[in-house]
Amino acid sequence: MLLILDDLLSPDELETITSTLEDAEFLDGKRTAGWHAKVVKQNSQLEKSSPQHEKLEVLVKAALSRHPLVTTALYPSAVHSILFSRYQNGMAYGLHVDNALMGSGDRRYRSDVSWTLFLSEPDGYTGGELVIEGSEGEQVFKLKAGSAIFYPSCFLHQVKTVTDGVRLAAVGWVQSLVRDSQQRDLLFDLDVVRRSLFQSQGKTTEFDLISKTHANLLRQWADP
Ligand code: NI
Repeated sequence: MLLILDDLLSPDELETITSTLEDAEFLDGKRTAGWHAKVVKQNSQLEKSSPQHEKLEVLVKAALSRHPLVTTALYPSAVHSILFSRYQNGMAYGLHVDNALMGSGDRRYRSDVSWTLFLSEPDGYTGGELVIEGSEGEQVFKLKAGSAIFYPSCFLHQVKTVTDGVRLAAVGWVQSLVRDSQQRDLLFDLDVVRRSLFQSQGKTTEFDLISKTHANLLRQWADP
């Protein structure tokens, strides 16, 4: 499932992030790419050890964790490896798949869900679409600033060439308690149905049975 969250950031948060990035130091994005993705990655990224990165990472993580759909659709055990990227002057990130494992030591995480948080308004740059080769073919996204898309990390994807203007974005990954995206989708559908039943008819026998099924599938599939 592809999940789009409009206005994940408040206008104030968006302003804080973009104004902080204006004065920040960016480095070549190839530094954090896997050996094969390096070949097609042309962008610049905020230095991870900078104080700006620390501040913005906290802000973005808080925005993600407060959204109820992040919890019910993704079951995050960790939101990790956040990067702030900038594309301009013909930069692009060609077709690639994200590394399955990221980080090292105690901070080694699996990438189950990839996400992009758009930070520039779409009319501020030309090109720069996120293209995902999902199970239903190629899908193209260019979201408004402050909105985010989440997609299974198993898909090939790319960022088209930015031929004019500047495209700022944050990207990152979710390690999920439920690593299989189809299992997450089943749980999500059941959760939506049981909440809707509860809303319309209260705590009925049907609600109890669906809740039981949801809980028991989660028990089988979750790997905390
Ligand atoms: Ni990627």
